[in-house]
Amino acid sequence: MTTVGDAALETRENIPLQKGRKNAGLCSCSEDYLSGFKFINIAFGSLTVIITAALLVQIYYGDYQVTPHGSVATDSLECSKIGTSILKKGGNSIDATIASALCLSVVTPHLTSLDGDAQMLIYNHRTRLTPDVIDFNNGNPDAEHLLPRLVLGLAFVHQQYGSLPWKELVQPAADLARQGFLIPKMLVQAIKEAKAEDLYRRLEPGQLLQLEALGNTLQQIANIPEKDLYTFVNPNNQPVFSQALRYTFNGFDIYVPGTPSTGPALLSNIRQLESFNFTESDTLNTEYVYRLAEVTQNLYDDLNMTTKFHEGTSTNVAVMDLDDNYVSFTTGLYTFFGAGEITTSGYTLDVRPRPTRCTRLPIIITDANAICGRRLVLGANDMSLATQLIMALLVANHNVSIAVEAARFHILNNGSVGIEGSHTPLFSEDVLKYLETLTARPILEPEPYMSSNVVEKVKDDLNSHSDSRGGGIASRF
Ligand SMILES: *[C@@H]1O[C@H](CO)[C@@H](O)[C@H](O)[C@H]1NC(C)=O
Ligand SMILES: *[C@@H]1O[C@H](CO)[C@@H](O)[C@H](O)[C@H]1NC(C)=O
Ligand SMILES: *[C@@H]1O[C@H](CO)[C@@H](O)[C@H](O)[C@H]1NC(C)=O
Ligand SMILES: *[C@@H]1O[C@H](CO)[C@@H](O)[C@H](O)[C@H]1NC(C)=O
Repeated sequence: MTTVGDAALETRENIPLQKGRKNAGLCSCSEDYLSGFKFINIAFGSLTVIITAALLVQIYYGDYQVTPHGSVATDSLECSKIGTSILKKGGNSIDATIASALCLSVVTPHLTSLDGDAQMLIYNHRTRLTPDVIDFNNGNPDAEHLLPRLVLGLAFVHQQYGSLPWKELVQPAADLARQGFLIPKMLVQAIKEAKAEDLYRRLEPGQLLQLEALGNTLQQIANIPEKDLYTFVNPNNQPVFSQALRYTFNGFDIYVPGTPSTGPALLSNIRQLESFNFTESDTLNTEYVYRLAEVTQNLYDDLNMTTKFHEGTSTNVAVMDLDDNYVSFTTGLYTFFGAGEITTSGYTLDVRPRPTRCTRLPIIITDANAICGRRLVLGANDMSLATQLIMALLVANHNVSIAVEAARFHILNNGSVGIEGSHTPLFSEDVLKYLETLTARPILEPEPYMSSNVVEKVKDDLNSHSDSRGGGIASRF
């Protein structure tokens, strides 16, 4: 049972790690993580300082200093908390991602389902090896799936990287579906937008929704013994494994999936923008957003982005665990509610016209020069949003909350520029006048808007932010 007080504590921004703990994170003692000798000496030398700091932290934050820290950011407080509960039980970032992703298939059925598509970046900041990319869309829509696609992909990553038992990761979503959850505002908006009123009985935001058929399906999935579960995954249907691409921009290494994702296009766009040499103060100019939109729109045009890629729905899970495993996970459907029919198993099937490559992107960013510098895990629905986030974080130097909540433009399927009419802050009139030169008056798009959830570490400080567009709240401990 979680009280309101607990929730408030868990969802604070900016929790410093407990300094000096064994295993507390790699930046506690020395920037020079690789030289063990120096590490130990400094640790010894600063023991007193560390103890004092720990005491101060303890006093400052009361007795909430539990174990080392981790965070999960999703489009639902419930799903973020399910993720951190897995970390608290000793699960790693991959375990937390599995549990949170299944939870999202329950509470955000407009954005993803058990049959959803997904992409994943998996990175360890201690080894600092190039992140692994796992693409659940193996490009083979005819592959036989005895399990729905999202479940099959999660079973595969569990086999490869998971640490807690499968059942423990699926059970929370099964329980949530059966016990019910508060209907998110975005779900109701999506029903209206997609004219999907016949899928659910009349829903009101804030009411309890119980999904018994889905809960029973998740229970069956939870009950599959691991040795049987893994036999469902075969070379014909398994996710595609590759290495991430890296581009160094403004002193940061940006990691994204390569072809066939929109990752290479994103990196080209960043490269184009790099040639403008924008500084932090330039980002305050009215003209700046216009330049960003112009360069991005041109690239969409040059690369025929809207014909090559399909922009579906998107929701992302960002996780950092106690061992500096970072996971960026994006999942979604071809369109709100996929094929628009709920199966007897309680979930919607996705639409899979071929060949379909979606625009969604998981992203991981690290400081290219300092191990303890800024590290970010985020996801974006398309490369135009990814560009704006990267520029806001790495050039404008905004903190995660400001970067995520900032006004955004969006390149529509027909190449026009769209903006969000009902998200604050809005663009100023001056910025809008500039944008008008790119298109007619920017198109005012209806809600719900696609979100981006971020987890960040700077030295040992952990921040996270769930986008208000998605209605979620990040969880930390
Ligand atoms: C950006 O900086 C590079 C290298 O200093 C310079 O060659 C280039 O002309 C600059 N670009 C602009 C638009 O000022
Ligand atoms: C984009 O489409 C145009 C016309 O359909 C074609 O000529 C061009 O080669 C395409 N560009 C790319 C990068 O695919
Ligand atoms: C982000 O910056 C804003 C404005 O500078 C500030 O109000 C807010 O507290 C900051 N948030 C975090 C998490 O540091
Ligand atoms: C592009 O699409 C938007 C939204 O679908 C529509 O409102 C707008 O008129 C279209 N613009 C052009 C130039 O076709």
